[in-house]
Order: sequence, then C-alpha cells, then structure tokens
Amino acid sequence: MILPRLLLDLDSLEPTQIDELIELATSISRKEVNVSNAMAGRVLCPLFQQESSRTYMNSTAGFLRMKGTLLPLQISNTRFGSRWSEPIQDFCVLLNSCADIVIARSPETDTVRRLAEHVSIPIINAGNGSGEGSEHPVQALVDLYTIREEFGSRPLQILMMGGRHIRSTRSQIKLFLRFQHNLFIMSPPSPVANSDIDSLIRTHCEEIESLDDIDLQKVDVIYHNGIDENPLASATEAFVLNRAALERRSFTGKVMHSLPRKAELSQCIDNSNYNLYFRQMINSISAFKAVFCSIFRSKSGE
Ligand code: CP
Repeated sequence: MILPRLLLDLDSLEPTQIDELIELATSISRKEVNVSNAMAGRVLCPLFQQESSRTYMNSTAGFLRMKGTLLPLQISNTRFGSRWSEPIQDFCVLLNSCADIVIARSPETDTVRRLAEHVSIPIINAGNGSGEGSEHPVQALVDLYTIREEFGSRPLQILMMGGRHIRSTRSQIKLFLRFQHNLFIMSPPSPVANSDIDSLIRTHCEEIESLDDIDLQKVDVIYHNGIDENPLASATEAFVLNRAALERRSFTGKVMHSLPRKAELSQCIDNSNYNLYFRQMINSISAFKAVFCSIFRSKSGE
C-alpha cells in the first residue's frame, strides 16, 4: 500500500487503504512486522506552530524508533515562523532540501494547506485550525484503530459530545460515518463557520440536547472532544462526564477522548472500565509508524 504524498485529511483515501493502515498499525503494535529500521536515513521535520503533547511525541518517537532522525527545528526561531514572516515559498525550498517528510500543525486552517502546495516532500497534517477546512486525520485514524481493537468491525452506536467545529471531531464524524457507525451528536452550536459538518449532522446523525435524551445502555462509545480548542473554554454541567453520571444511566460502554481534557472528563473515570482514552494515546505511536511506512512504502524486510 502507498499513501498519497499529502495527508491533509482522510477523505481522499479509499476505505481499503484505511483498513490496510489499521491492519499495519496492528501488526506493528503486535511486533508481527519488523519496522525497527524502516526510517533509517530519513529526516522528519516536525513543524508545530501550536501546542501538542500526543501528536508531537507519538509522531517523533515513532519516527525515531524506526531509526529516522529529526530536524531540530524551532519554528518560532525561523524567519518563516517569526516576525520576519519569510515567504512560504522560500521556506519550502529549504524544507525540500533539509527534510524527507514534514508533519505540521497550525492554529490557522490554511497554513498547512499552503505548505502542502509548496513542498515536494510528503506532508502530514497534524491539525490545522478549527471549523470549516480544519482536520486532524491521524487522530481519527487512531480512533478507528482503537475502536476496531476494542469492538471489532461491527457498526457501533457512538455518542459524540462537545464542539462540533473541533478539528478532531470534524475528521472523526466523517470517518465514523464512512465506516457505517451510527452517530448521536450532543454539541453546542458551532462558534465558527462549519457548514459541511453541520450539514452531515443534519442529514446523517441524530442530535440530542442532554444525556437524558438517549438510552446509554444502547450506546457503545461516548466520544468527548472537549468544548473548544481554547484552553479557557469551560464545559457547562450538561457536558461534564463523570463516573456517577454514567453508572446512574447504566452505561456499560467505553469513553473516548482525543485529549487534552479540561473539566468535561472527570479523572474519576480513569480507573474504571470506561476508560479507552489512555489506549488511544498508546495506539497513536503505532498508527504514526504505519503512516510513515505507508508513505515511504518501506516496510522493513520488503
Ligand atoms: N489529540 C491531540 O491532538 O493531542 P495533542 O494536541 O496533545 O497533540
């Protein structure tokens, strides 16, 4: 399998390609395939203009553990990512000669896409802004992989909670619908333009206003993405998940969250059977390894 050079979203991938990516991530995780040298001689440029724990650490650690190396670049110290605002075309000439692949995150929707227009090396979107045009493709891939690992391939009843404009939510809604999952949405109105996802929700999902509007005994997964990318945004009481609220409603499924969390996901859930969000974090490194290997078509030993 080979992936396109530009991984800006998952829309352009055939379902079979997504299946193969997940199968490869599973094989890597189970050590059924040896990728320990797969990135030898290659250089990854992590270009993060916005904070990240999971995406940064799992992508870079995955690359390093396959014997790749990193370009030790601090975007705020470059002429491109500082007050110099160097033209993107000039900066991309450098990227093309100094790295073999870029993973980029930006608070704006268009910066990663503009980089993609100007680089000739592969580029992975690690999250670009929020609302219309924003995506977080590898997060959605990790989530589908984690769901398959836990539940197999059967269609699930999934309750999506939180901001519908958040890039992870946007990528997840599109991917989960493509793989026949049944989605319930509990989400405040979007604070930014989000018409494509709003339209998908209207036509393909069932909206609810409160946890009391749904029989949680019939729900397999509650997926919370938080309320907003802004760390100061706080969830109203209705959007807070805690163990007592889940137990009171006889919920027996799993709770997922792309993390980081704020008050919407109580830590009292961490040590319960509900917790699938730590598994998501752990699965991310195998998903990134699978993506890198598929982009370079370089499964070790082949
Ligand atoms: N889920 C996710 O993207 O986390 P980070 O922002 O920490 O990378």
